[in-house]
Amino acid sequence: MSETAASPTRCALIVGATSGIARAVAQRLAERGWSLVLAGRDAEALEREAADLRVRHGVGVQTRRFDALDLDSHAGLIDGLDLAAAVLCHGIMLSNDAAVADIHEHRRMIDVNYTSYASVLEVLAACFAERGDGVIAAISSVAGDRGRPSNYCYGATKAAVSAYLSGLRGRLRPKGVAVLTIKPGPTDTPMTHGLTAKGPTATPQTVAKQIVRDIERRRSVCYTPRKWWPIMTIIRAIPEWLFKRTSL
Ligand SMILES: NC(=O)c1ccc[n+]([C@@H]2O[C@H](COP(=O)([O-])OP(=O)(O)OC[C@H]3O[C@@H](n4cnc5c(N)ncnc54)[C@H](OP(=O)(O)O)[C@@H]3O)[C@@H](O)[C@H]2O)c1
Repeated sequence: MSETAASPTRCALIVGATSGIARAVAQRLAERGWSLVLAGRDAEALEREAADLRVRHGVGVQTRRFDALDLDSHAGLIDGLDLAAAVLCHGIMLSNDAAVADIHEHRRMIDVNYTSYASVLEVLAACFAERGDGVIAAISSVAGDRGRPSNYCYGATKAAVSAYLSGLRGRLRPKGVAVLTIKPGPTDTPMTHGLTAKGPTATPQTVAKQIVRDIERRRSVCYTPRKWWPIMTIIRAIPEWLFKRTSL
């Protein structure tokens, strides 16, 4: 794919399209001429977003219902669509205390953040592999690179997604399909609102710009903002005997 404005006929599916990061990705893709299919649970919010994108950017935008926990519905998610790319954005983040206190809520987070990703990724993989083209992108997190005492339950779901995408990338490469693992650092969205010790956050627009650039360049891994690549390279290299004594 070129770095110039996209052809209006290219279509991207955004799953979890009401998320803060997904909305910014949708705006950026539409700005570059992509037509879009927005999938999510909240039909009214999706329609509002679709109307805004049509008016602002003059691109075609459809909406579809998607519930991450309704696994049986995932096979039909892309029926009738001719997609050049898909981006999985949905997710939930329980505090570690909440996850540890309630195994059912913990399992819900695993199912939303990991099981549903595995399910949808395989639907996309089968379709894109058959066509021999396309980009499958999914949002993991820097939190998946190393388990920290403060959020290892959430981080473990993201580590599973990163490992899954890594294997899927190798499997689909000979078929002409690119797989992009997106690893944002803390970003200013509803997910992080109200967090007490969150530190500096990136804007969803900054994150989305890099995501779209890496989709169009068919890259493998997108740390966003970019500073997280050197930071996480160092954090991953810290030996476990030392890491367990830190409060990172
Ligand atoms: N924000 C950060 O700091 C950050 C950092 C790294 C990675 N991430 C990851 O980036 C992705 C987007 O995060 P965000 O910050 O943009 O989140 P957000 O604004 O809180 O949005 C979360 C999205 O997940 C959807 N969702 C939750 N449960 C669902 C279900 N059962 N079925 C379908 N959709 C469901 C929500 O849909 P409804 O609108 O219907 O509730 C919403 O669209 C997530 O995977 C997150 O883990 C975020």
